Amino acid sequence: MKGILLAGGMGSRLLPLTQSLSKQILPIYDKPMIYYPLSTLMLAGIRDILIISSERDIKGFKALLGDGKCYGLSISYKVQSSPRGIAEAFIIGESFIGQEAVSLILGDNIFYGDDFEKTLEKVMRDQEGATIFGYKVENPEAFGVVSFNKEGKVTALEEKPKNPKSCYAVPGLYFYTPDVVQIAKSLKPSLRGELEITDVNKVYLNQNHLRVECLDKKVVWLDTGTPEALLKAANFVEMVQKMQGVAIGCIEEVAYKKGFITKSQLVALAEKMGRNQYGNYLRGLLEG
Ligand code: DAU
Repeated sequence: MKGILLAGGMGSRLLPLTQSLSKQILPIYDKPMIYYPLSTLMLAGIRDILIISSERDIKGFKALLGDGKCYGLSISYKVQSSPRGIAEAFIIGESFIGQEAVSLILGDNIFYGDDFEKTLEKVMRDQEGATIFGYKVENPEAFGVVSFNKEGKVTALEEKPKNPKSCYAVPGLYFYTPDVVQIAKSLKPSLRGELEITDVNKVYLNQNHLRVECLDKKVVWLDTGTPEALLKAANFVEMVQKMQGVAIGCIEEVAYKKGFITKSQLVALAEKMGRNQYGNYLRGLLEG
């Protein structure tokens, strides 16, 4: 399976923070935001990854992650010249996707939970059609929303509805068959002028090929698009890391534990961090 990480957009809700910097390079406590969604794709076992961002910001991601080899990944890059919608990622990524299934993750989405890796592995194993997730929130009107009937069958998908029919938001992590490219090409821009990911999901729903996995509260999902959400995410990461002594979104750790890199490659990554807290954590993994 291929992975696309969408890290463009204007970041307008975060101005002036994003005046000269990509939103997805801003820190969430001790790492750049992009580490978190990247580590999620890696947890799913995905190693061939396309990062899509704006002309201005793509250089920053290349400087940060390079070709991904030192993390046991193959990372390539493509520019989205203006934010014409999340679904455009599949059109931009057409040659990258080829005939393979593909997962898309939004660059400002953070997932964390003990059992989340197992959920991802199950989705990867059972993948046919499309798989999306549902997550109970207090403000569904801010997201794509999925609603169900009493039998748990999906009845509707709506993008930021004024009067949501359910409190289940659709997080920014999606799994699709390769024909998602043709589906994206067939879409018309929405009233706000974007190719909507919710419209892609509606096509799979109409074809009876959409699976929705509801995540329980053992999984934490954070969308970090506003200043409050950014701070909340940073506080959450700091609290978990300090109290539990584990790191969230640590791509070096995931690469090592997944067997993408060897012990000596992890040593090299730790040495690059020097004697700081991050480097010490990586060295601790070697001792552990
Ligand atoms: O976070 C989950 C939600 O993400 C979903 O529930 C919604 O269905 C989906 O539309 C999306 O809503 P947002 O309002 O959060 O989308 P936003 O415009 O903030 O874009 C999400 C990320 O994708 C952000 O990191 C910027 C990037 N992006 C977005 C667009 C529209 C791009 O790189 N290019 C784009 O054209």
